[in-house]
Amino acid sequence: MLRVRVQLLLGILFLASLSVSFGIVHREHQESQEESDSRGENNPFYFSSDRRFHTLFTNQYGHLRILHRFDQRSKQIQNLENYRVVEFKSKPNTLLLPHHADADFLLVVLNGRAILTLVNPDSRDSYILEQGHAQKIPAGTTFFLVNPDDNENLRIIKLAIPVNNPHRFQDFFLSSTEAQQSYLRGFSKNILEASFDSDFKEINRVLFGEERQQQQGEESREEGVIVELKREQIQELMKHAKSSSRKELSSQDEPFNLRNSKPIYSNKFGRWYEMTPEKNPQLKDLDVFISSVDMKEGALLLPHYNSKAIVIMVINEGEAKIELVGLSDQQQQKQQEESLEVQRYRAELSEDDVFVIPAAYPVAINATSNLNFFAFGINAENNQRNFLAGGKDNVMSEIPTEVLEVSFPASGKKVEKLIKKQSESHFVDAQPEQQQREEGHKGRKGSLSSILGSLY
Ligand SMILES: *[C@@H]1O[C@H](CO)[C@@H](O)[C@H](O)[C@H]1NC(C)=O
Repeated sequence: MLRVRVQLLLGILFLASLSVSFGIVHREHQESQEESDSRGENNPFYFSSDRRFHTLFTNQYGHLRILHRFDQRSKQIQNLENYRVVEFKSKPNTLLLPHHADADFLLVVLNGRAILTLVNPDSRDSYILEQGHAQKIPAGTTFFLVNPDDNENLRIIKLAIPVNNPHRFQDFFLSSTEAQQSYLRGFSKNILEASFDSDFKEINRVLFGEERQQQQGEESREEGVIVELKREQIQELMKHAKSSSRKELSSQDEPFNLRNSKPIYSNKFGRWYEMTPEKNPQLKDLDVFISSVDMKEGALLLPHYNSKAIVIMVINEGEAKIELVGLSDQQQQKQQEESLEVQRYRAELSEDDVFVIPAAYPVAINATSNLNFFAFGINAENNQRNFLAGGKDNVMSEIPTEVLEVSFPASGKKVEKLIKKQSESHFVDAQPEQQQREEGHKGRKGSLSSILGSLY
């Protein structure tokens, strides 16, 4: 281990001297020292599913988990301080008990089916949600969620935007369970008796069941905030629920299916579905866009950057390698004096992982298996996706020849030719023939590439 470290140190010194002689510094933000680093786990934009979630509640019927704070992971995404990501999973025929929270939620179904019921002071709205359906739950709205399916698990991801506190919010449950006392229980006996015009013993027996518990012991307690439902109960709830699966743009407050609209990018390598604030009032309200992206194994999402949106990606299915490019933060820059450092952040992503793409940071994604990911774009209104390669939406190809001429070492014509070479747009082959041929000739490349290869 020590020897490895020393070699690494030597390697880094060697690289540092190289970078000085080339006049640029190019660093890779990775933990090449440790095993974990090869997956990019020290990368501040990467939140692995098994290490970066905090479990809020779990029992045999499901769980609720919250992702660690974005702003604590990296100085480069401080503006995500007021955004949290919550994952909810539940087994077939279960109910997440009625509650409300001091946060706005944007809920998206990743897998399975749900009946979502929003309860208002004088009405309630029940919706059947399927994969790709999204719905805003305004802060303070009492709601409950049923997994009505007999076989399939339900998986939901929620973007939470807290109201009272920059990064914290709480779930207020109406009923008392092992996990949490009913918030009604917080009121004094006098207030409860006067409010319900009933005797406290009666209120206690009906709403809190505390006496019963004392008599029968632990067993009579509810198991927690996710409980089992009977078939008949589900059928009854189903009767009153509206199906919105066919609608693309439903009325103002109703759920919408982002995968019913036409993909914004589509070819044989991939498809990108997106709903933006410009097209949907719920999203306009939150200033968020949502995307669902399918990529074939072996496809590459071309390098691009978002003009102003910070993107929170959630891997739904499959695996991918991601490369994000940023400039190192100021502290490091001071140490390096004048040279501005280009830094590459890599990670290998798999199911349930989360990755943050800051605004203006270029990114590329290599699908190493068939891939589906979902994304929330924060600060979304009028966001523009600027591609850096490919036939369409390519900002490079809009720069005039005269300017290319003086910006790059080769002649303007040659630069233009290179920019125009890639004829596909948005999604391309991640292993074109060109690259395959080169791989065969690896031995001919200089010693630098083999040193770099052994380091990373
Ligand atoms: C994508 O990943 C595959 C598998 O690791 C690799 O063979 C290929 O060269 C990568 N392509 C790009 C463009 O990085």
